[in-house]
Amino acid sequence: MIAAALALIFCPLPLPAALQAAAPSTTQRFGAVSSSQADATQVGLDILAVGGNAVDAAIAVHFALAVTYPYAGNLGGGGFFLLRDAHGEAWFLDFRETAPAAAQPDMYLGADGQPLAALSRLGWKAVGVPGAVPGMWEAHQRWGKLPWRQLVAPAVALARDGFRLNESGTSSLQQSGELLRADALAAHLFFDGEGMPLPTGTLLRQPQLAATLETIAHDGVDAFRSGAIVDELVAASAAGGGILSAPDFRDYQPQLRPVIAFDWRGRTILAASPPSSGGIFLQQVLGSLDGFPLRMWGFRDARSVQLIGEATSAAFRDRNRWLGDPAGRDFDLAALVAPQYLRARRRNLSPQRYTRPDRGLPQPFTEHLETTHFSVVDGDGAAVSCTTTLNGAYGAKVMAPGGFFMNNEMDDFAAKPGEANQFGLVQSAYNAVIAGRRPLSSMCPVIVVVDEKVDAVIGSPGGPTILTSVLQVLLNRYEFGMSALQAVAAPRFHRQDLPPTLRYEALRLSGTMRNHLRSLGQPLESRDFIGDVNAIFRIKNRWQAIADPRWNGAAGVVTNP
Ligand code: DON
Repeated sequence: MIAAALALIFCPLPLPAALQAAAPSTTQRFGAVSSSQADATQVGLDILAVGGNAVDAAIAVHFALAVTYPYAGNLGGGGFFLLRDAHGEAWFLDFRETAPAAAQPDMYLGADGQPLAALSRLGWKAVGVPGAVPGMWEAHQRWGKLPWRQLVAPAVALARDGFRLNESGTSSLQQSGELLRADALAAHLFFDGEGMPLPTGTLLRQPQLAATLETIAHDGVDAFRSGAIVDELVAASAAGGGILSAPDFRDYQPQLRPVIAFDWRGRTILAASPPSSGGIFLQQVLGSLDGFPLRMWGFRDARSVQLIGEATSAAFRDRNRWLGDPAGRDFDLAALVAPQYLRARRRNLSPQRYTRPDRGLPQPFTEHLETTHFSVVDGDGAAVSCTTTLNGAYGAKVMAPGGFFMNNEMDDFAAKPGEANQFGLVQSAYNAVIAGRRPLSSMCPVIVVVDEKVDAVIGSPGGPTILTSVLQVLLNRYEFGMSALQAVAAPRFHRQDLPPTLRYEALRLSGTMRNHLRSLGQPLESRDFIGDVNAIFRIKNRWQAIADPRWNGAAGVVTNP
């Protein structure tokens, strides 16, 4: 079905195998869930089916992903929770990790003053104070309907009774094998006696995690404020050279932040404000593209690609230069999206130009998909768009004694302002490592509102490619007029400020387009995949939930709430 749909539009090019697999996708009107993992999606649908609202289902999905998708789902990480409630009010709950009280600006620099990447990426020193449990608790306190215990219970069952490891679960364990096996608990849980990852189909039970989740179900956020889970975790951190302390957990607070809401040709785009760069990025790019005849040029046209690439590159420059934790900001954010500023940006954009970055080349980087996004809508029209992460695959690759991986979100800070991090992002002192601050993020949960109704819920993992993936789904759907499925499946590209290459999925650029872009001086690099979108769209008052056909997610709808 999807192969047929894509072939109609992009017929000159063959489809790679992964795109030929049909995305699970159904339509109905009462509620829908799309996530990166089938058991977690089912948990969300079950909660909707027994009368839970979108927030309830989202909380249950978050906890389920912490069990069934240890690669990115988490208790030891954090994320962004964007809600448009049934009354039409929008909320952004930031439950991102925070630099521990003992963090120091130079803590990831070597004696020569240069960043030591391993310190901010691997092991306990790389761990920020996690926000996942306080975040879910806060969402429940504010907007939940069903009892908390009922929302955590499915995750308890999945951890205690087990779930079947799928192919991507095994292969991601394989990829991170060597580093993961260095952690005794991870080696015990996910690898056999010979150090091989558990094979696909294994019933994976996680008793330590089940016990932790039982405590969370019973005690709520208090389980993560103090007590055995925290004490053991802090002791493990200290033993591993980390700096987490008991007061870090006691003091962690999720933050309600402003929602970035802007008009895009009669639609309202709802997105996250800093420490997410998502809202500012989208407002800048969509605003600066306004007035160019993208629709007339079409999706498969070198002018569209180059112009969008120029616009995203400029927006990344501002992102990296100006954004960070709002606590450190000393200017008015509105300046970055002011109409006259975007008009000037627009005047500088040309589909015939490649603008070379004004600095040297940073380290190369590879895109990963180690974050996860899920989208939920309910029968009352409420929608949750939530992106959550450990940052790297299995985070810092250390497990808390309570059976969950810890994030390495500290690497999202600029360890040394002006030097590239693992995503090639060269960021400024606004994103320096400062105790109590939250690192700048590319996570970009979005909700689109048309005629006062939720029209789309979108998000993706992928580090900086999150921003360009979400942008392209918006453009595909609303500018290029694609169906919902095509908008998610259509091949993508990515350009940030540095490195200056335009990365593209093979089917995005024909040979002629590649030649043209190269003739402008635009360096190109092909990638297997960019992004993993989990989205929901309203189609004629019915929901269509879509899990990106590139990967193994699952989407579904519920008919009887
Ligand atoms: O918040 C961020 O921008 C990153 N921690 C997201 C990391 C991510 O998507 C992992 N995959 N590349």
